[in-house]
Amino acid sequence: MQKVIILDFGSQTTQLIGRRVRELGTFCEIVPWNKFPAGDPDIIGVILSGSPLSVYAEDAFHPSLDGIVGRYPVLGICYGAQLLSYLYGGRIEPVGTREYGRANLTLLEPSDPLLKGIDEGSQVWMSHGDSITAIPEGFRTIASTGTVANAAFSLPQKKVWGVQFHPEVAHSVQGTLLLENFVEGICGSRREWSAGSFVDQTVRELKEELGDDKVILGLSGGVDSSVAAVLLNRAIGSNLTCIFVNHGLLRKNEYEDVLRDYQCLGLNVIGVDAGKEFLSELEGVSEPERKRKIIGAKFVEVFNSEASKIEGASWLAQGTIYPDRIESCNITGKVIKSHHNVGGLPEEMKLKLCEPLKWLFKDEVRAVGESLGMPRHLVYRHPFPGPGLAIRILGDITPEKVRIAQEADDIFIRGLREWGLYDQVWQAGVILLPVRSVGVMGDERTYERTVALRAVTSSDAMTADWADLPTDFLRKVSNEIINKVKGVNRVCYDISSKPPATIEWE
Ligand code: XMP
Repeated sequence: MQKVIILDFGSQTTQLIGRRVRELGTFCEIVPWNKFPAGDPDIIGVILSGSPLSVYAEDAFHPSLDGIVGRYPVLGICYGAQLLSYLYGGRIEPVGTREYGRANLTLLEPSDPLLKGIDEGSQVWMSHGDSITAIPEGFRTIASTGTVANAAFSLPQKKVWGVQFHPEVAHSVQGTLLLENFVEGICGSRREWSAGSFVDQTVRELKEELGDDKVILGLSGGVDSSVAAVLLNRAIGSNLTCIFVNHGLLRKNEYEDVLRDYQCLGLNVIGVDAGKEFLSELEGVSEPERKRKIIGAKFVEVFNSEASKIEGASWLAQGTIYPDRIESCNITGKVIKSHHNVGGLPEEMKLKLCEPLKWLFKDEVRAVGESLGMPRHLVYRHPFPGPGLAIRILGDITPEKVRIAQEADDIFIRGLREWGLYDQVWQAGVILLPVRSVGVMGDERTYERTVALRAVTSSDAMTADWADLPTDFLRKVSNEIINKVKGVNRVCYDISSKPPATIEWE
């Protein structure tokens, strides 16, 4: 399949470039600036990302682009454009104060293929501390803005383009069109990438790779592991065994509901109800990291014990997705490998690892789920932390606190669905606070617990904003919780953004 390579120089928006290219129907891979996969026959073009560094910084990344420029079409974005300019003899200078925000393009070469269909005055988003004050000899400036003389340039005979602005962000109003001009018009993408084509190709590859082997997969109830399971089920059917562990800290009725959903999907799934064991190990433990460790270790133990009953299994499948494993650069030039897996299971179990979603961004996982015919409520489920309510019950955990947290959470989440608000928030839940306060019910004085409602909007959980939910909705949820959940007499709404707060309270 055709692909575009995105060389990552450490910008916060590198993944966004990847998502935009995929949305345009072209597969792409993000690789560190010094790891260009030379020799890959499927490459049709290269994008150089932005960077927090200046090209003149001591530790700036200066890869040689021999073997890239002249061979593939290249688009440099921000630092990428400055790097192209720097390497070919242009001049880059600090602008004094960082240029950050909206600007409007003046088209100097409107017939340039990168600018096809872009309007005069089109709004773009700038974020840079250096500016290209002179482009290299032979290059042409194709667009400028009020303050940036060389906002876009090209060297058509070598198929090189550079833009000082960020076409990948939404504030660049025609940014997607510009990327489409590059990927389709210039690189010649045949738009081979789609959820449907991914399913067909992956099912074919899984059949080939796994043959008659047996595979075990740990289901969490979340989108990623569920989509991975349905995909594998399509490829190898009953040779896939899924294990779904109830650690007792799931949402109200979630264990039963999710298990039923999985069975309806035709999955071969074993449910392990170990809630009591988890709660007894957590008794008296208040420290958040210890709670996480206890749950993680117990999960491995319960999962291993169940998995060891499955004879002849040779693979462990996981719902790892692309953002979990993109190697990204940090600004000291070292490459950080961030790899996610379930508590060291593969090492202990001597199983080979199968990660069928490892190339997908989160929104693509959902599209694949839909293409596999999975029900909407499973595919568009909010993220839920692995340790579940354990990190939403602040302090120590008791069965009574779990009941309160589950009932209040159920009222909140059901309310979000009933009011049509569920899909507008990234994630929501109820936090049970370790405080009691005075209230009055009927003629009685009460001294009971407080819960906080948390609902955030986000696109990746790295940053998040509190959701501006309607007051009438909050009033109704608060009344219902106080009236129906025994032990709660006060409800608060968390209006903190991340950063500086986090989504979870522990
Ligand atoms: P924070 O609280 O760091 O959360 O803003 C970001 C995202 O991560 C989830 N989260 C976890 N997920 N195990 C998980 O599997 C954990 O220990 C954990 N802690 C936080 C959180 O729900 C949010 O989606």
